[in-house]
Amino acid sequence: MTLTIEEVLRQARPVMPVLVIEEVGLAVDLARALQAGGLRVLEVTLRTPQALDALAAIRREVPELLLGAGTLIHAEQFIEARQAGAQFVVSPGFTERLARAAVDANLPYLPGVMTPSEVLLAVEHGYRSLKLFPADETASVKMLKSFKGPFTGIRFCPTGGVTADNLLGFLRLPNVACVGGTWVAPSSLIRARAWDQITQLAVEACSLAASLELQS
Ligand code: 3PG
Repeated sequence: MTLTIEEVLRQARPVMPVLVIEEVGLAVDLARALQAGGLRVLEVTLRTPQALDALAAIRREVPELLLGAGTLIHAEQFIEARQAGAQFVVSPGFTERLARAAVDANLPYLPGVMTPSEVLLAVEHGYRSLKLFPADETASVKMLKSFKGPFTGIRFCPTGGVTADNLLGFLRLPNVACVGGTWVAPSSLIRARAWDQITQLAVEACSLAASLELQS
């Protein structure tokens, strides 16, 4: 069965960790720590020179995770991400060129948007699941509520400003599929190899989300 971005976001709920990996040797332990905390979908950002090797290592060693490449801002990165083993790709914004690159790479793609016109452009290209970036705690919750009327059926993954403290405000919105964020795997904890603490942050996010599902 072909993987869709909708399925990626469904499995990612509540949170898709956004990973900035500075040392390839830490990638697999990091992925396992997040998996132990109950998360199944990870996004490795191509923001460090080691990112593609880190992505390849996770894909090889922890194949049961769904693994994406993020922060794609150049068309060439789509093929590189695919070759390293990415199963989906994410970008902070959206352009015609990036849309073509995603089609050429034949990868499920989560484009980033911030405004109604950007949502419309992505919808014109057939996308119905979008990253909302950056996500400001108060303004973005308000904006997502307003988006619900005109953008029927469009679902969002707010990222860039989400933390354990504001997670539920986003997740309780019906047009939010999941959120993304670095807070479950902060660089300081990765550098310190504090895997138990990272697992704990993932557990905490999952428990918060579970409390919400119980209420509904
Ligand atoms: C992203 O690339 O999605 C964001 O930079 C993550 O932002 P955060 O650090 O606020 O989670």
